[in-house]
Amino acid sequence: MYADKIKEFKIKKDAVILAIESSCDETAAAVIKSGREILSNEIMSSCTEHIKFGGVVPEIASRAHTTAISLVVDKAVKSAGITLKDIDAVAVTYGAGLLGALLVGVSYAKTLAYSLGIPLIPVSHIRGHLSAAYLADKELKPPFISLLASGGHTAVIVVKDYGDYQILGSTLDDAVGEAFDKVARVLGLTYPGGPNIERLAKEGENNIKLPKMLKGEGGYNFSYSGLKTAVINYTHGKEQKGEEYNRADVASSFQSSAVDILIEKAVEASKEYNIPVITAGGGVVANGYLRDGLTKACEKNSIKLVLPPKGLCTDNAAMIGAEGYIQYQKGNFASLDLNASARVDLQL
Ligand code: KG4
Ligand code: ZN
Repeated sequence: MYADKIKEFKIKKDAVILAIESSCDETAAAVIKSGREILSNEIMSSCTEHIKFGGVVPEIASRAHTTAISLVVDKAVKSAGITLKDIDAVAVTYGAGLLGALLVGVSYAKTLAYSLGIPLIPVSHIRGHLSAAYLADKELKPPFISLLASGGHTAVIVVKDYGDYQILGSTLDDAVGEAFDKVARVLGLTYPGGPNIERLAKEGENNIKLPKMLKGEGGYNFSYSGLKTAVINYTHGKEQKGEEYNRADVASSFQSSAVDILIEKAVEASKEYNIPVITAGGGVVANGYLRDGLTKACEKNSIKLVLPPKGLCTDNAAMIGAEGYIQYQKGNFASLDLNASARVDLQL
């Protein structure tokens, strides 16, 4: 019985983990060795199928995962130069995300773990984003400060030990990526909003006064709904008066307001807690303005910055493998009744 086997699995230091990620519109699989070395990292996206709907359509995403998953997993195994027999464990994102989409990855991972007789490791997508940093710097060890900036979360966290988090503050309303996506829609930009705002912002100036929410107050918490409303009020106000406005200036001003506060609070946490290492993760960390700003701020304050490459900030399976390895070392194995979960507590 697989259930009895779970208790007997031996934990290896140099484990080879196959990781699967299907929480949103990316079907991804990766092979990670010893939690730090990427042997392969494959991804297929259904992004273009969602553009005309202005956002991810769950049903379309689920169908695309079903078509892609075995191709992507096979590709990841092949390009890692291994065979299925070399895999020590299967890690899979069980949440947070779109239920139907998650279930495709979870079912596939269960089948694989069962048929190979190896552990199944349940991974939180949010923790995956935080663990991408371990792939960017093989020597990185806790404690460090982590800035989480994705489509669903915004937080400043003290990573006290592997998998041991103290959340200093998080968003009180919208996540920063969500604000990028909503403002993109206001400016008539297509999905995905974040990269399109970044592109447009390069043509504009930061010359429109927008609120910096909870700047210098609210501890390490964030609030983005006021900033989003300010952009809507500005553009609608101009339109009602029949006045022209520069969309690129709006994009640039919004980007500065949204991002500067992230940098400020991450650096503040590093100083207050006397932890001179900052890492960052989540789709918004692919933003060039954020990457440059954080790099400069860390240089100025003699803080070591571990910034994962852009492809490890947006959704990918390598980060799930890195986090999977931490859970594997703790012996956190799932049974075959593992379910997908739309929401996962940041603390879990
Ligand atoms: O981490 P992620 O891929 O998925 C979640 O776990 O949420 O983050 C997606 C978010 C979206 O809101 C997207 O607009 C934003 O990350 N994003 C960006 C950029 N690339 C992705 N935001 C700003 N600038 C970018 N270059
Ligand atoms: Zn993500």
